[in-house]
Amino acid sequence: MTGQKYLDYADLNKSQQKLLDAAKKATRNAYSPYSKFRVGAALLTESGHIVAASNVENAAYGSTICAERSALVAANAMGYRSFKAIAVIAAGEKHGTNYPTAPCGACRQMLYEASQLSKGKMQVIFSNTNEDKIIVSDIETLLPFGFGPEDMAK
Ligand code: THU
Repeated sequence: MTGQKYLDYADLNKSQQKLLDAAKKATRNAYSPYSKFRVGAALLTESGHIVAASNVENAAYGSTICAERSALVAANAMGYRSFKAIAVIAAGEKHGTNYPTAPCGACRQMLYEASQLSKGKMQVIFSNTNEDKIIVSDIETLLPFGFGPEDMAK
């Protein structure tokens, strides 16, 4: 992630700051006894609600679910499928992250689906622990030529 132009917390607008705050708060609920890496994600729904979640690990490591997908699943259970943005932030047990925590490939795929179901472009905000290295991007940039519901034959 070097060579990127990063934003600082103060560069974000109020709504982005609020979303990142919610993601940071959600790191407290991380169930991450194996990696000790606490991740929080917060979704801003089309209707203005915030749905936050954390990563949930499992003794069968591959059954772990990331914070981003947890948030999407939680939002779906509440009836939300259209989003404006997602914010992601993480911290290690002893140290903060040096670089913004970017969504993994599986999360990008699920975010791509959510983005195509959403009205406008879905913003993806990801930050380092100190909130002085922040990227504001969108899912089309993070997953170019992605496959989504609009690509299914009908
Ligand atoms: N993780 C997330 O929750 N989101 C990310 O964007 C990166 C990775 C989690 C999965 C696992 O619990 C831990 O972080 C270490 O990979």
